[in-house]
Amino acid sequence: MCGIVGYCGKEPAAPIILEGLKCLEYRGYDSAGIASICDGEMLVKKDAGKIDEVERKQGIGCLPGNIAIGHTRWATHGAVTQANAHPHSDCHGRLAVVHNGIIENYQQLRQELIDRGHHFTSETDSEVIPHLIAEKMEGDSYSLEKAVLAVMPRLEGSYAFVTLAIDDPGKIVGARKNNPLVVGSGSHGNYIGSDALAFARHTRKAISLGDNEVVVMTPDKAEFFDAAGNAFSKQPRELDENWANNCKDGYEHFTLKEIMEQPCAIDRAALQDGKKFNSIALDILRAGQVVFTACGTSRYAALVGRYLFSRVGKKFSEVANASEFGYFVDSIDKNTVVIAVSQSGETADVIEGVWAARDVGAKIVSIINRPNSMLEELSHHTIYLKCGPEVGVAATKTFLSQVAVFYLLSFSLVNAFDEAVEHLGDMSGKVAEAIECNNSNLINLAQKLKDKNDFYYLGRGINFSIATEGALKLKEVAYVHAEGMPAGELKHGTLALIEQGTPVVVVCPDDYTYGETLSNAMEAKSRRAYIIGVSDRESDIFDFWVEVPRVDELLYPMVTIVPLQLLAYHMALARGYNPDKPRNLAKSVTVK
Ligand code: G6P
Repeated sequence: MCGIVGYCGKEPAAPIILEGLKCLEYRGYDSAGIASICDGEMLVKKDAGKIDEVERKQGIGCLPGNIAIGHTRWATHGAVTQANAHPHSDCHGRLAVVHNGIIENYQQLRQELIDRGHHFTSETDSEVIPHLIAEKMEGDSYSLEKAVLAVMPRLEGSYAFVTLAIDDPGKIVGARKNNPLVVGSGSHGNYIGSDALAFARHTRKAISLGDNEVVVMTPDKAEFFDAAGNAFSKQPRELDENWANNCKDGYEHFTLKEIMEQPCAIDRAALQDGKKFNSIALDILRAGQVVFTACGTSRYAALVGRYLFSRVGKKFSEVANASEFGYFVDSIDKNTVVIAVSQSGETADVIEGVWAARDVGAKIVSIINRPNSMLEELSHHTIYLKCGPEVGVAATKTFLSQVAVFYLLSFSLVNAFDEAVEHLGDMSGKVAEAIECNNSNLINLAQKLKDKNDFYYLGRGINFSIATEGALKLKEVAYVHAEGMPAGELKHGTLALIEQGTPVVVVCPDDYTYGETLSNAMEAKSRRAYIIGVSDRESDIFDFWVEVPRVDELLYPMVTIVPLQLLAYHMALARGYNPDKPRNLAKSVTVK
């Protein structure tokens, strides 16, 4: 949800910023811009459009100078226009700011500033920041960092912003509250970004800025200050090598690359510390209640987790929609374990619920992919998925990795972590088989169904989660209305929508739900639906059979989700859309 990058050092800055912005495009791609300082002049170029378009139109990557900041936007306040694109400046164009987050009291601040003679050029909440900083620098002759520290208490809401000014040149100042900002130090200069991915090609030494902290970055050093302006030191953490690979590796899209990486992702997710899992399992077993909180794909993975906890560990748990979780905090207490599932570790809805649960003493276990996240800071235990950066906005390999982690965790509840690792050992081959057997058939199926407007996905038990995730993938990347539901629910309303040729995807591997799920599929077939069966066992009911390898009942989600991801991907292509960057969506949603 908006990506920020900054660099100061010996190299031309704009190309580094441009490259960093491309790595952060998953956070938003409505508009982009860069500001640099060269020969005492502030140069700003920005426009609406994806980064490549903005680069073509404005040549943002050609701005001169060795110090620059940049931004890729996902609009919250103000339409997608050139004026609303970042960086934003003060009245005299002497400083520039890029911001991620929402300044909740911006209307009040803006009015105050207008009353004092400031002129605004955008509709954004962000623009108040450069005006406030400029006032402090001009009126009180503050340094850039002193002005930032003075302005921070005035800003309500959430922010990560970085700024540079021609009146205090040679430095970039960054500040954060409830939004991520990571500093990287390399031999050719210093970097800052919303995610270490922005600079991972240049340095793997990363330091996360904490809430209400400020960093002052020059070509040679990065200094940290608390809200009172006291300097303190922070140690860098070495980024996993895997995290620096951000290329398509010859695939047409990141989404396809990430689907294809899933056999390997399972192996990586299984590389976990058994002792840590056993200790988390003890907390879960002792807890009076266990609640998963998550959004989107991560929530559907949590549904698999809930099923596995019940079936393997005989432990009942509940899955809360993270944006609703906060409303149930009255029933959370110190006997609650909250399992926060978030690929990014920064989804605002998840973070807010976790804060509330922590406040009442709940134990927080988080399951995260991206390193250095806010969620990790709030958690008592963190489990990493280890599958490397996921760039496609629609989650694929992280879903499978989350499912693998839940498999390990559920077996840990019965002290069988090692057994689970062994079972997972066979799964990468099975997932590869599920890809190979289906890819070309699904291209044909997508061609056949590309003009259908509504899809329904059914499943029971553990397969219900896959029905919901399969439907979400189709909505996200192919813009087709799709609903995933427990197969038994179909007759309680949705059946009224089934007509001749309506595609109904039935997730029905050969487990103990097979027969009943097929009966529900038959209810749809009797209304002339077109039945796509996802199973290792064929049936006359299927109009199209997506064959998956036979595996143990609890591992079916890993082989059934893969063809549904591929179907969504090929549907997107058949309908002429770019699956990597779905309209209106961002991968990391840092606003509520
Ligand atoms: C956004 C993305 C979804 C994602 C969800 C949760 O809505 O578009 O693809 O599943 O956030 O993200 P998280 O990082 O918390 O797993």
